Amino acid sequence: MMTAIDEADPRTPSHVPRELVVDGFDIFNLEVPDADPPLVWREIKLANPPIFWTNENGGHWVATDAADIKVIQVDHEHFSMAQHNIPKNRRGMPAPPIDLDPPKHFGYRALISPAFSPKALAALEGTIQQVLDGLIDRVAPRGECEFVEDVAHVLPINVFLGMMGLPKEDAAYLLPLSTLNTQAKELEVSQRTRAEMADYLKDKIEARKAHPTDDVLSQVVHGKVNGEPLPDDELLGMCTLLLAGGLDTVASMMGFIFRFLATHPAHLAELVADPDLIPQATEEFFRRCGIANTGRILVEDYEFHGVQLKAGDLIQIPNCLYGIDETVVDNPLEVDFHRKKPIPYASFGNGPHSCPGKALARLEVRLLLRSWLSRIPEFTVKPGTVPQARIGMTNSMRELWLSWR
Ligand code: HEM
Repeated sequence: MMTAIDEADPRTPSHVPRELVVDGFDIFNLEVPDADPPLVWREIKLANPPIFWTNENGGHWVATDAADIKVIQVDHEHFSMAQHNIPKNRRGMPAPPIDLDPPKHFGYRALISPAFSPKALAALEGTIQQVLDGLIDRVAPRGECEFVEDVAHVLPINVFLGMMGLPKEDAAYLLPLSTLNTQAKELEVSQRTRAEMADYLKDKIEARKAHPTDDVLSQVVHGKVNGEPLPDDELLGMCTLLLAGGLDTVASMMGFIFRFLATHPAHLAELVADPDLIPQATEEFFRRCGIANTGRILVEDYEFHGVQLKAGDLIQIPNCLYGIDETVVDNPLEVDFHRKKPIPYASFGNGPHSCPGKALARLEVRLLLRSWLSRIPEFTVKPGTVPQARIGMTNSMRELWLSWR
């Protein structure tokens, strides 16, 4: 499927040597046989040069070594955030702070950071627990559920809507958009999806402008960067980023964790017997189940590890590969709840853009594990079903039927 090609592909830019071109590598069309995307990424890494080029999706580089991923994430002088999705201009709108490099990035980031402070998260804990209790009450008596749709997607959207002071009923409209946002291959579909998310938020933003409230949406709407209110397009882009950032990512992380537990009874029994292991287990899952397949755009021509990169080239850094690299951690594919701390991973990025929603995601995962395992301590993949995952701008869990007595 993916081999260095013998014949020159006319789409290959002149600065890309033929031996670095991997034919047919399309992140939106990768097979994910065991619903375990990091394994797929690892095979890609082992079969190809550490930095390779594909002509699919507009053409881009892929860097698979942990050391390179780490550097590319933080070296904004060479690798800019101005374009970090595939294909380029995937959003079709500004999305501060994620599309800005330091130092411009700092002021925008400061505007959203308070939404994820320990105090703000403590205030959200009750809402999260309430949603979880309702969810588990609903599914537990059934003896089975499709975990992704019934649980994993429901929790983060409710948390987001609660944070932003928006109606819970809107979840049904937003959820399909959240999937398309990370998984659509066609530029036109991904841009339209983002525009629909933005359209949804427009009148809510206007309402907060006229009547400030105490929710996060109002804080952002009335926030200032360098003493100035945000222009309308940036404000809309920032709110849409907040909406898009924490849905499919959190849901997929939960899906991969539950797929793992459903297929590893000894690990499941260990967590059930000792729930105090949940915080450490959560970090270990974050390492093993990285989600984001982010990227960067070259600011200028730059020779990196002997590879000539050109200004305007996109380079993708599947950050799940960092935590499962032997140079970073021993026995990287094994899930070990007793691994030496701190557990190294790049699943939430590194440096100035590292995910501000990380603590929220951590809280949601920990509370889910605690509540679920106390109510449904034994479960498996439902016999006759096969978990389904996809790879796109995120590693995404699509379907996971679970059953229990
Ligand atoms: C398991 C869940 C999550 C994962 C794996 C994840 C992953 C990431 C990664 C890798 C980045 C950095 C991207 C880069 O360097 O190119 C990032 C940034 C970001 N994430 Fe998350 N995220 C998660 C949850 C959330 C949540 C819950 C929210 C908000 C509700 C959120 C909002 C953001 C925002 C706003 C940024 C941009 C930060 C900046 O540019 O300074 N994320 N996320």
